[in-house]
Amino acid sequence: MADRAVAGFTLRPVAPAEQPALLALNNRHDGPVNALTAPAFASLCADAFLAVGAWDARGTLLGLLVALGPEGPVHGPNHGWMRQNHPEAVYIDRIVVEPAAQGMGIGRALYAALAGVALEAGLGRLGCEVNLDPPNPESLAFHARLGFTAGGQATDPRNGKLVRYLLAEAAPLAGPGPAHFLRSPAKRPCPAAPR
Ligand SMILES: CC(C)(COP(=O)(O)OP(=O)(O)OC[C@H]1O[C@@H](n2cnc3c(N)ncnc32)[C@H](O)[C@@H]1OP(=O)(O)O)[C@@H](O)C(=O)NCCC(=O)NCCS
Repeated sequence: MADRAVAGFTLRPVAPAEQPALLALNNRHDGPVNALTAPAFASLCADAFLAVGAWDARGTLLGLLVALGPEGPVHGPNHGWMRQNHPEAVYIDRIVVEPAAQGMGIGRALYAALAGVALEAGLGRLGCEVNLDPPNPESLAFHARLGFTAGGQATDPRNGKLVRYLLAEAAPLAGPGPAHFLRSPAKRPCPAAPR
């Protein structure tokens, strides 16, 4: 499986056997991101445009990002808002970095990987939402630093959270070099048959 090494950590697509570790990391951050059941997380990963993790040299999981593309099933009302209002956007369903690894550039690297994959697929915009109430000022600061701007807000009917929708152009975020190898092999289009 291809991967991309960045200072101190490596990004690679998430294998099904790694999903429990990612789900555990996700569910330790219930609040900033919504907790999921194992079947719901497996379904999300199966539908994902990109599901990528960051690991250190010892194989410890440091971070995760799951994004949904402009096609496929809608996962929840926030994804629904993005699909309705910005159908061209790749939607970041969740990003989590272990507290001990925050501030190392992992979040930026995960977004750079997603932006690169999106651009290679002809998709130039990224979207997500961040909680306003209960507030998530760290995530708002992170997204502002990366160039995201507000596109709207709504209350999530599932839990009453007030969220702000954010959008950014992918091109300024993309890292150098190709990124498509970060997609799961199952997500890649088949190579053209030789003529
Ligand atoms: C938000 C989160 C993903 C950021 O990940 P990270 O790996 O710590 O972010 P990075 O180290 O890549 O930071 C990228 C940039 O954002 C800035 N930034 C990150 N967190 C910040 C904060 N709390 N305040 C101000 N700036 C911040 C960094 O300074 C950095 O700027 P630079 O690249 O110009 O130096 C991480 O804090 C996290 O997982 N939080 C808990 C879960 C969560 O809230 N997820 C998002 C839900 S919407």
